[in-house]
Amino acid sequence: MPITFTVNGNPATLDLPPEMPLLWALRDGLNLTGTKYGCGVAACGACTVHVDGQAVRSCQTALGDVAGASVTTIEGLGTPAALNAVQMAWLEGQVAQCGYCQSGQIMQAAALLSTTPNPTDAEIDEAMSGNLCRCGAYPRIRAAVHDAARRLQEV
Ligand code: FES
Ligand code: FES
Repeated sequence: MPITFTVNGNPATLDLPPEMPLLWALRDGLNLTGTKYGCGVAACGACTVHVDGQAVRSCQTALGDVAGASVTTIEGLGTPAALNAVQMAWLEGQVAQCGYCQSGQIMQAAALLSTTPNPTDAEIDEAMSGNLCRCGAYPRIRAAVHDAARRLQEV
């Protein structure tokens, strides 16, 4: 039976197996390829998206579990013409090295800032600890989270 949910504010209906990981439904079913595959076992964070505002690992979230839910991917956080404050902080802080982990990092950071608007270093490190970066961009990630927090407070 087709599964209907909301993606980046738009209705989506996919006739795919309910047990399919959300990651592949987004990438292959909806061509939203900003969400990346890293490990497939909820151990790296590359596939992080928001489901009803919560950061989740889409590689370990079944498509059927998001029926009726609101999913946000990196493509829905902002647009190239109107970047989200977190994306802007990442861009200006030149956080990305290879970039592969970064959509997941940004989605995790955005979820943190939605509940903790002015996080400490320790809170950032704790919240981001499940998002691995093989390029070791961790100091820039932490600085960008602080910058994004400042930007969000100025809005
Ligand atoms: S691909 Fe999902 S956590 Fe690594
Ligand atoms: S920027 Fe390369 S893995 Fe994080």
